Amino acid sequence: MPQKEKAKQQKEREKVPAFTDISELPGVGPATAEKLREIGFSTVEALATATVSELEAAGIGEKKAQELIELARETIEISWVTAKELIKYRSSIGRITTGSRALDGLVGGGIETMSITEFFGEFGSGKSQLCHQLAVNVQLPEERGGLNGAALYIDTENTFRIERIEAMAKNLGLDPDGVLERIVYAEAYNSDHQMLLLEKADRVIKENNVRLIIVDSLTAHFRSEYIGREMLAERQQKLNKHMHRLLRLARAFNAAAVVTNQVMARPDEFFSPMVVAPVGGHIVGHTSHTRLFVRKTAGKNLRIVRLVSSPYLPEGEVLIKITQNGIEDVEESEREELRRR
Ligand code: GTP
Ligand code: MG
Repeated sequence: MPQKEKAKQQKEREKVPAFTDISELPGVGPATAEKLREIGFSTVEALATATVSELEAAGIGEKKAQELIELARETIEISWVTAKELIKYRSSIGRITTGSRALDGLVGGGIETMSITEFFGEFGSGKSQLCHQLAVNVQLPEERGGLNGAALYIDTENTFRIERIEAMAKNLGLDPDGVLERIVYAEAYNSDHQMLLLEKADRVIKENNVRLIIVDSLTAHFRSEYIGREMLAERQQKLNKHMHRLLRLARAFNAAAVVTNQVMARPDEFFSPMVVAPVGGHIVGHTSHTRLFVRKTAGKNLRIVRLVSSPYLPEGEVLIKITQNGIEDVEESEREELRRR
């Protein structure tokens, strides 16, 4: 592009003031702002990812909807980029350490932002422990493997434990109270409530500088409420919508999204495409979704984590340890002991 053209575009861009709240957007009166908030678009970032039909469903006319989305997009500069510029986009991806160097290495340096990471495995495999650890670690400064941000924790089975957070925080030399303050928590009572929580999450994410969104468990409510073959399609559809929303929040706020999914310890079920199987339609989240299978070993505290699918990383597996301190690397002596068993 000629220099002149570029400068002109830059100028155009500068003309658009940086709105932070939807009520500041031109043409958004109190009534429209209220409508937008009701359907979960209370920030400009979220509005920029909306579709016209979503806004229409809330009673906003097509033309107006188009204008609003356009304006929101201009404000946060979502536009065409060249592949070269993509490098810059990718470099803005942040990573959160899991507490285990081995596991970090398996996923390319830590759990990444702007996409969804799923831990799946049987009961007691350590999925929730991993979530707790990440909720603490995201708060670390960047040089220690964190993002200096807060965590949003959606707990569906009431398995979030303050004592675990405190122990993990202390182990890292962090003030436990301060760490608890930066975990924004909500319990989801059923699948609809779970979906609603995410739909209304954008403001709380922004206000608290949330860089990690946890849904533990993603699937439990859906499984218990949508039973049998005939409800499978509806269940998938709802789950897909939920995942889609999660992905959009992760992208809009450069946050990591981590979900858990319990599966039976039946080998033939391990790798079935449970969550994102395209039953009744294609799912957007699928390709940018990292799946990690966690399983128990003969060693009581030791777990194997296997990278089952990733948009760009090779498969592989590592050993981790769950202790009072949280998620840790396994020492050579412990590895040896496991081999001897
Ligand atoms: P479901 O939610 O039932 O599917 O299981 P999960 O995969 O979420 O399991 P979770 O993360 O709750 O793991 C529980 C396991 O973590 C326990 O069985 C213990 O082995 C281990 N664990 C939890 N807390 C501690 C602790 O304080 N010390 C030690 N050593 N291990 C712990
Ligand atoms: Mg759990």
